[in-house]
Amino acid sequence: MAQSLLKATRLIPPSVVLLTAGNKDHQDAMTATAMFVAEKLPLITISLSKKSLCHELIEKTGECALNVASVEQVDLAKKLGAPHGKDKFKAFGIKTEEATKISAPLIAGSYAALECMVLTSYSASNYIVYLVEVVAFKANEKLAPIAWLNDRYFSVDREAR
Ligand SMILES: Cc1cc2nc3c(=O)[nH]c(=O)nc-3n(C[C@H](O)[C@H](O)[C@H](O)COP(=O)(O)O)c2cc1C
Repeated sequence: MAQSLLKATRLIPPSVVLLTAGNKDHQDAMTATAMFVAEKLPLITISLSKKSLCHELIEKTGECALNVASVEQVDLAKKLGAPHGKDKFKAFGIKTEEATKISAPLIAGSYAALECMVLTSYSASNYIVYLVEVVAFKANEKLAPIAWLNDRYFSVDREAR
């Protein structure tokens, strides 16, 4: 595979989600991207490195939360996007809220928090691609979400015409 082709995957500005998985006893959070799948069902796809702790927790619980990052959470998205030790919630002072239908914690201050159950998954290179269904959600549309392009974060709050 020509290395230059890999740049193609960086040309789509993806969403930024602070993914949480696990439960009160064993939980983890990581920055990831998520993509819309279908209009008539609340389906989303995510792709997680096989090395990530979140992927291990999702394999155990079959669920995760996608906390759509707000512009106030850029710093947290950077911190959760780099490898580090285990207790990120304590280390980064992350404020959590209880989910209504899953065990994973929600991250306070997010643009939206989507509670998801895994429908199916498959292996792709070093990743596991999950198709998840949203089973509950809440949103704070007064906040602006962010997108990620060329290693930079952008606020998504101005309509282009
Ligand atoms: C903006 C951004 C998006 C990312 N998206 C993903 C992703 O979709 N899947 C993934 O496996 N890692 C992604 N990463 C990298 C993980 O956040 C990073 O490897 C993290 O350390 C994994 O945490 P863990 O190993 O403790 O589970 C992303 C990082 C950033 C900064």
